[in-house]
Amino acid sequence: MRRIAWVLAVSMVLVFAVAAVASADTYSTYAAWSSVGPNLGTAATPHTDYRLSTMKCAVCHSVHKAPTTGEILLPASVGNACVYCHITTNMGLTQIYSGVALNYTQDYENNHSSGGGAGCTTCHAVHGANTVTNTLVAAKILRATPGGGSWSPQASLPATLSYTSTVKDNVVTAWCTTCHPYFVGSYEATHPNSLGNVGTYDGHIMTTDTAGYHNINATIPTSTVVAYATSLQCRDCHDAGFTDQGSNPVAWTNNFPHYTTAMRFERAATSSVGASVDATNSQQDGVCLKCHRNNTTGTGIGY
Ligand code: HEC
Ligand code: HEC
Ligand code: HEC
Ligand code: HEC
Ligand code: HEC
Ligand code: HEC
Repeated sequence: MRRIAWVLAVSMVLVFAVAAVASADTYSTYAAWSSVGPNLGTAATPHTDYRLSTMKCAVCHSVHKAPTTGEILLPASVGNACVYCHITTNMGLTQIYSGVALNYTQDYENNHSSGGGAGCTTCHAVHGANTVTNTLVAAKILRATPGGGSWSPQASLPATLSYTSTVKDNVVTAWCTTCHPYFVGSYEATHPNSLGNVGTYDGHIMTTDTAGYHNINATIPTSTVVAYATSLQCRDCHDAGFTDQGSNPVAWTNNFPHYTTAMRFERAATSSVGASVDATNSQQDGVCLKCHRNNTTGTGIGY
């Protein structure tokens, strides 16, 4: 009995000694991000390549000194966990949403937003787990299956559109269909993955066909050419803003698919030879005349 009490007393002393040391230094706050020091020789990002001696977790999670206003030991809520590195500062090297937090938190027709239901972590896996691993987009840490791991690319996409494609926009298009409908072959009746759009809709045909009209659901003639560019990928129409922005600060203002200065990431034709500008309204005719135009035979700009 006496022996147990002694052991207890010794361990109490030890506990207090350790506690005194812990409160004397500041190491349990957030670590500063650095791609050198202990992180040298690993991927230069806090999002992947965690090793036993790297110092990455503590950049975002503080075990004892996280603010009570944060979530899961982060300095902020999960929804705002990326803002201080990728929007309001360029600590994350790539700065998006024009550097303005409101462009991300508020829902506009020009953005994906936390206000509209698409926060950073609905699309990105911050720890790099279960992402689209195709090397063309691997660095973007895109969740392979968003929506709590239950949504995957729409079934029956054209074979060229998949996570294994060698064309980046084919990969991204397949990925967009985890949340939004793609209109294949014939008109779709319902769209199980559609967010807020569930219902019976027809949608613009998505195809590479521009030779003769590939009429799929009407009785009008099919021999003429009606389009002069393909609409296979989302990016064929939603073509505003930079991608692969890198760390070029000049390009801050305009980044697909986050926030672009064009409405709904759309650009509009300004002439019959292909020039285009940001659409100020996603229903303006220039948006269609990017592809449906032929100045010499009567379709398009000027007629
Ligand atoms: C760049 C910032 C960042 C880094 C670095 C980071 N985390 Fe996280 N962590 C987050 C965010 C943001 C969430 C919320 C994720 C979500 O909701 O998808 C999270 C969530 C978690 C969770 C909760 C489970 C989950 O996935 O939702 C655990 C546990 C965790 N992180 C542990 C770690 C560990 C361990 C490391 C290092 C190996 C680490 N984190 C590195 C930002 C980070
Ligand atoms: C502590 C700062 C920090 C935080 C917080 C942070 N990041 Fe990063 N992020 C970085 C750094 C540094 C890189 C590497 C940049 C580079 O090499 O271009 C990076 C890279 C990225 C990339 C790849 C960029 C590219 O051009 O390939 C994505 C995507 C990304 N972060 C998303 C997120 C998301 C989503 C969150 C929030 C869940 C987040 N980050 C939070 C610092 C941060
Ligand atoms: C994780 C689900 C998810 C993925 C993946 C996703 N989106 Fe969205 N998208 C949303 C939600 C939710 C909205 C609703 C509005 C908001 O957040 O601003 C939206 C809105 C939009 C809008 C309309 C913007 C507006 O506010 O009027 C367009 C256009 C769009 N998405 C295109 C895309 C494209 C292109 C991709 C692929 C690069 C994509 N989305 C991937 C969830 C997603
Ligand atoms: C043929 C051109 C075209 C293609 C291809 C296209 N879009 Fe769109 N999309 C538009 C236009 C134009 C609008 C704006 C419509 C409006 O403002 O009424 C729009 C609007 C949207 C919206 C918001 C409206 C809504 O209610 O759904 C979403 C979301 C969207 N597109 C996602 C996508 C995704 C994801 C892809 C690829 C799978 C895609 N689009 C492919 C032209 C296109
Ligand atoms: C609707 C889904 C979606 C949302 C929401 C989203 N992203 Fe992204 N993000 C993407 C896609 C897709 C790409 C790759 C685009 C490409 O290269 O074509 C990307 C690329 C990036 C990049 C690299 C930029 C570049 O131009 O290469 C960074 C950094 C990034 N995202 C961070 C974030 C942060 C931080 C948030 C929240 C503030 C966020 N993303 C919200 C889908 C999303
Ligand atoms: C990126 C190029 C592109 C854009 C932008 C575009 N289209 Fe198309 N459109 C096509 C292609 C390609 C076809 C199919 C042509 C074929 O089968 O020969 C098509 C077909 C159509 C059809 C016939 C659809 C069917 O199911 O038979 C209509 C109607 C149409 N487009 C209207 C529009 C309108 C309205 C807009 C503007 C909101 C628009 N398009 C924007 C490329 C485009």
